[in-house]
Amino acid sequence: MPTPNKPAPTGREVPFTEKDGFIVSKTDLKGTITYINRAFMRIADYAPNELLGQPHNIIRHPDMPKTAFRLLWEHVQAQKEWFGFVKNMTSSGDHYWVFANVTIDCENGKPVGYYSVRRPILNRKALEQVEVLYQTLRELENRQGIDAALAHLDTLLKEQHLSYNQFALKLYRSA
Ligand SMILES: Cc1cc2nc3c(=O)[nH]c(=O)nc-3n(C[C@H](O)[C@H](O)[C@H](O)COP(=O)(O)O)c2cc1C
Repeated sequence: MPTPNKPAPTGREVPFTEKDGFIVSKTDLKGTITYINRAFMRIADYAPNELLGQPHNIIRHPDMPKTAFRLLWEHVQAQKEWFGFVKNMTSSGDHYWVFANVTIDCENGKPVGYYSVRRPILNRKALEQVEVLYQTLRELENRQGIDAALAHLDTLLKEQHLSYNQFALKLYRSA
């Protein structure tokens, strides 16, 4: 199936609130979308046949640092869950923020793919902090490469004595 052209980002945020429930998707082991729920279709504004069989980066927003996805894949490939703030793009280029929990999907004890369950972000202050961090990471990635961005994040986590997941969860739960 051909990948549809990516829309240009509009800078407009579409709401994702508690009323919407969770946004859920499943992928195979390579990140190709195999399942999406109704909330996903409605908020991302795609029909199922436009998403099923496509790589999950179809909804990637250019503001997301590569570092976040590097950590996502490192965690899940090591069979560890991953938590993180993700800015995604709708079919028209608008965006919505989610707090994602990505886990392995097993059948008969064997990994067959991954799940992502996304919750709305209620704490806008936390989101502001994430936006600043992501901008710093993106700038480092662009100027010095992803290793510099990973090292920056690692220093930040060491200073706070937190794992990456603990750091993300702490921000998400902060009031
Ligand atoms: C279960 C699962 C869910 C994912 N959900 C998203 C998502 O919502 N948005 C996104 O940009 N990437 C998501 N990804 C990561 C993408 O597969 C990809 O790594 C990312 O978009 C970066 O793509 P790129 O390296 O081609 O730019 C998900 C991956 C998995 C395994």
